[in-house]
Amino acid sequence: MRARLTIPGREITPAGDAPGHGNGLLAAAGRLSPVVPAAVADKDEAMPDEQKLRALLGKLSLERKVRLLTGADFWSTHAEPAIGLRRMVLSDGPSGVRGETWDERSPSLSLPSASALAASWDPGAAYRYGIVLAAEAWRKGVHIVLGPTINLHRSPLGGRHFEAFSEDPLLTGRIAAGYVRGLQDHGVAASPKHFVANDFETERLTASVVLDDRALRELYLAPFETVVTEAGSWLVMSAYNAVGGTTMTEHPLLEDPLCREWGFDGVVVSDWQAVRSTEASARARQDLVMPGPEGAWGAALVEAVADGRVPEQAVNEKVLRLLRLAARVGALEDGQSSVAAPPVDGRAFARDRCADGMVLLCNEDELPWSGSGPRSVALIGEPALWPRTQGGGSATVLPEQVTSPLDGLRAALGPDRLSVSRGVPVQQGIAELPLDALTDPVSGEPGLRARFLDAAGGELRTENRRSPALRWLGNAPEGAAVLELRTRYRAPDSSRPGIACAGRVQVLADGNTVLDTELAVDADNPAAALFEPPSAILPLAVEAGAEVELTVRYTIGELSRTLRALAITLGTETAAVPVAEGIAAAVDAAREAETAVVFVGTNTEVESEGHDRKNLALPGAQDELVRAVAAVNPRTVVVVEAGSPVLMPWRAEVAAILLGWFGGQELGSALADVLLGVREPGGRLPTTWPGAEEDVPVLDVTPIDGELRYPEGLHIGYRAWLGSGREPAWPFGHGLGYTGFSFDTIRADSAISGGEPITVRATVTNTGARAGKCVAQVYAARAESTVDRPVRWLAGFAALQAGPGQTVTVDIPVPARAFAHWDGEWRYEPGEFELLLGRCATDLPLTTTVTIR
Ligand code: BGC
Repeated sequence: MRARLTIPGREITPAGDAPGHGNGLLAAAGRLSPVVPAAVADKDEAMPDEQKLRALLGKLSLERKVRLLTGADFWSTHAEPAIGLRRMVLSDGPSGVRGETWDERSPSLSLPSASALAASWDPGAAYRYGIVLAAEAWRKGVHIVLGPTINLHRSPLGGRHFEAFSEDPLLTGRIAAGYVRGLQDHGVAASPKHFVANDFETERLTASVVLDDRALRELYLAPFETVVTEAGSWLVMSAYNAVGGTTMTEHPLLEDPLCREWGFDGVVVSDWQAVRSTEASARARQDLVMPGPEGAWGAALVEAVADGRVPEQAVNEKVLRLLRLAARVGALEDGQSSVAAPPVDGRAFARDRCADGMVLLCNEDELPWSGSGPRSVALIGEPALWPRTQGGGSATVLPEQVTSPLDGLRAALGPDRLSVSRGVPVQQGIAELPLDALTDPVSGEPGLRARFLDAAGGELRTENRRSPALRWLGNAPEGAAVLELRTRYRAPDSSRPGIACAGRVQVLADGNTVLDTELAVDADNPAAALFEPPSAILPLAVEAGAEVELTVRYTIGELSRTLRALAITLGTETAAVPVAEGIAAAVDAAREAETAVVFVGTNTEVESEGHDRKNLALPGAQDELVRAVAAVNPRTVVVVEAGSPVLMPWRAEVAAILLGWFGGQELGSALADVLLGVREPGGRLPTTWPGAEEDVPVLDVTPIDGELRYPEGLHIGYRAWLGSGREPAWPFGHGLGYTGFSFDTIRADSAISGGEPITVRATVTNTGARAGKCVAQVYAARAESTVDRPVRWLAGFAALQAGPGQTVTVDIPVPARAFAHWDGEWRYEPGEFELLLGRCATDLPLTTTVTIR
């Protein structure tokens, strides 16, 4: 239990919504206000006692102050007992809270990824998501969650697309603000990231983004502005990349607008190892260098202050902000009250969020299944058995269990109505060895034996591990030179085993060396060694049912030793069954069944931190698989497991497509709920999904000579699609649900002054036979203008529920900023703006106008 300074008005509220937050979706009666987490947390209430903080600062020598500004280790800050400061623990995030170890023995709740959360179009849901993360943080002793990721979906090739919310800055900002407030209202700090223009992964540590001021302000900075000014974020994470030639940890944007204009009084934490200078970053508004204990500040910064190259005042201000953060998260002791984490049912929440984020892209009256479901269902595709429920990289958490679609449907339909066929391989590289095929030869327990050895072969640590994919981030034992893994592997089939790691590795099978090699990663992308290490297949024939003792000796390289971080996975080759055979078996099963459900998706090599995607196609022969199944079963439903857009060239050939995203650990149970109609798929696309790669207006993510240009300026996402005259497969905002809505009336003040917000009042009617969700979307447009503008842009939205036949009135807030453009300052062009209301960016039946005076 953490003690905390008592800050008036900041006591923990019990589980559920904080007062004034409503329940996210509008209740179904009368005239309703949209539920956006209420205005900014009162700044004065959130403000710790500044005089006291200054007094504590005054007790520290320069050396002690500077020491606090670099992490104590990979995941925490230094304690300073002399002033009652305890260490603060930081953790990834953003769709769960991993804690200080990457270890299956310390599992975490895995929630649907960011694009799925944004698909709810429900800031109230994001607020509750923040509360659930706060509970996880309390459980894991975490003070700061490294999220949300609020970079934009500029290009669908972006490798971390799944981790960010949307291509639209308003939707991103609103969802992010809900998330931040949910966490911080419960005593846990958020750290929105990565400030700024970190919308791609190629050359991610060094690339410099070149973009114009309008795009910077109106698109990329806008969500950061929202989380600071409306949600009062306690930290912001500075990015690896540069903007306009200056790396973000030294960038003047940290000072202005972040602090000066927006009033940010929190801590700027660096992305991991993003601080690469002493003076330039210390003079900038960069506060905390992570990870530690090594880094560019330390003794070099003390010296720079002593020499007058960095003013001591800059150090003082950084420490003061760190102390302020400590007070906010309860890491500054003064013997006062302690608070408990709100109790939550994480799995039920994960299931609920997953269903509410699923997007029904098309539906030929196939879904929901009627009654108790079809007599027979052919489940097809590897993602039905081994679902992809989260993206790769630092966002990964290790859930205790994952409910696969097979598990979920078996529980809902019983085993007798289901047939299962694997279809075609989805994973590239190696797939993890199944845990139930592994035995630790030392303890006889399931899993494997991991031993760290020093240079002389002495044992430093030994562990029984229950996962074939192991990572240590900052917690490999000091002085470790070799990692040894041993397991008895009983092969379930004849696929050859393999290994993934970066560097020198030797593998022995029953004592004989079968592999002795160096596996190299791209020098430009050292993170690949941790997140996507290269793999090799062992030249070893195995029979199904045979047992072999595998021993791996991995030499821990220089960088891994310094960071005490490494990753290694034991796997198998993925293409054991020939594609034609896999498809033929699936077709046979589909022909026999009343309904076929084909699961398709991306894999760890496609969507992950550390690299961008090469193309938008589904990996492997999945397109062929869907086509072959749809050809024999007209009731084919396709479920897509992907965090970012994939092409679906067969989209007109199937009965329904349901986008399950990276749905988190309860994907399978939520899917059963949705297919059977227990729940409606509540999601609407937060990003345009293209039909063909050549149509995508903004695709490029590859820097040239170290620069990535954003020549499209304001025109990304649907804004660019609308201007291009090309049609995507599915427009921004699209999603069907299980009922229909008519948009009946729209009303708004006919004239306002520049700088004033406006409320659009709409009535909508549920025209279907069941209760359902409507996301009412308002776009602004201006045909005649003196400035360049997109055809239209999102100005406001509200998610609401209505019963069958029910008409609901809803007030949709449109912020003043919807009518502003950046021209060295925010300007409001006088004249008429059109406001359009409807269900997505391309279906807007109602219009009104508002004049800016
Ligand atoms: C990522 C951050 C993450 C940090 C700590 C970095 O590589 O860019 O998003 O929070 O690592 O894992």
